[in-house]
Amino acid sequence: MTHHTPPKPASTPANAGPVPPPDHSGGPQPNADSHFFPTWPPQWPEITESILQVLRSGHWGRYRGEATERLREKIVELIGCGHVRLVSSGSLGVESALRAAGISPGNQVALCGYDYPGNFRAIEILGARPLLVDADPAGFSVDPESLRQVSPESVKAVVVSHLYGVPAKIRQLREICDQKDWALIEDACQTPGMAIDGRPAGAWGDVAVLSFGGSKPLTAGNGGAVLTNNDRIASKLNAYLDRPSDSTPMSELQAAALLPQLDRLDECNRIRWETYSAIVAGVDWTGRATSSCRVTEPSTIYKAAFLTPRRDALIERLRRSGLPVGPGYRSMHRSSDRRCDKSGPLDRCRQLGEQLCLLDHAALLATGSLRSELIDLLTAAG
Ligand SMILES: Cc1ncc(COP(=O)(O)O)c(C=O)c1O
Repeated sequence: MTHHTPPKPASTPANAGPVPPPDHSGGPQPNADSHFFPTWPPQWPEITESILQVLRSGHWGRYRGEATERLREKIVELIGCGHVRLVSSGSLGVESALRAAGISPGNQVALCGYDYPGNFRAIEILGARPLLVDADPAGFSVDPESLRQVSPESVKAVVVSHLYGVPAKIRQLREICDQKDWALIEDACQTPGMAIDGRPAGAWGDVAVLSFGGSKPLTAGNGGAVLTNNDRIASKLNAYLDRPSDSTPMSELQAAALLPQLDRLDECNRIRWETYSAIVAGVDWTGRATSSCRVTEPSTIYKAAFLTPRRDALIERLRRSGLPVGPGYRSMHRSSDRRCDKSGPLDRCRQLGEQLCLLDHAALLATGSLRSELIDLLTAAG
């Protein structure tokens, strides 16, 4: 645990910064009205200093340098994996991970019918066929029971995402993949620093992916990482990305922006968890709304997710109060049969697509009186 001061709330519109570009993480975009919450990306002096150091050294002009190497080392330390490859985005990371796991045209790849839509696209781009399975009735990711019922010969891999800070049932999913000889592609884009049963998110998959996109808890605006302990997967990944220049690199400046955020990751994860817990304990309606997916054990909350049948009206009221809220992803349960196969009716995916409401992670960094204010606003709007 580090001992830096907690992120400071931005108290004036002047340091609220410009309205950010679209958020692809399946949730709200912080908007101009939400300026009283801590800003995102964080405006910490140590980020400015880290970037300035790279500028002053001239290393910003290199293909590779110290900052990207240190970032790689820190990710190795965080996740405990042997190979880390920095890439230009989480989306490209998932595509490269599938490719390195040997996915080729004609293969089927299972994924949850409620997921980051780019994961579906990555499977299609490789000429493989998505096979949608239902979401866990108590979570947001692949339901192990639903996956167990899937057994076509052509399935080669499963993509599993940890969404919003609710861990997937990854131990069970890992066991199923081992039994069936399927590759497990773990999407930990939203949850760096999460531990599941004492093992880091990102260390369960044959290959795993992190994102450093603009909406993520570690951000360089863009960027990502592909992680594996498997030498064969690592060498396929390198063979695909090296041409011989790195075909989808991260720059020294991006890495410099990320390094101080990694130093404060535990601290930020703790603050988000404390705010989430205070919301669940203090806001009456969130208890009702989240009855089927409330997180009870300390976790790496990314966004606070609530299910409510009257979502649009609730989002409207919360937004009027200046809260950065929005709906989740569009569920893929209605995707055309020309594009994918489906295992069952995917009822839980449909429910998530219709009812999920997300409070942005910037708001979860609220501390002290700001956190109380957040709880009052949520209570009043609910
Ligand atoms: C679960 C998940 N996977 C993958 C991605 C893709 O990451 P990127 O935006 O860096 O391409 C995102 C981003 O929104 C995500 O939320």
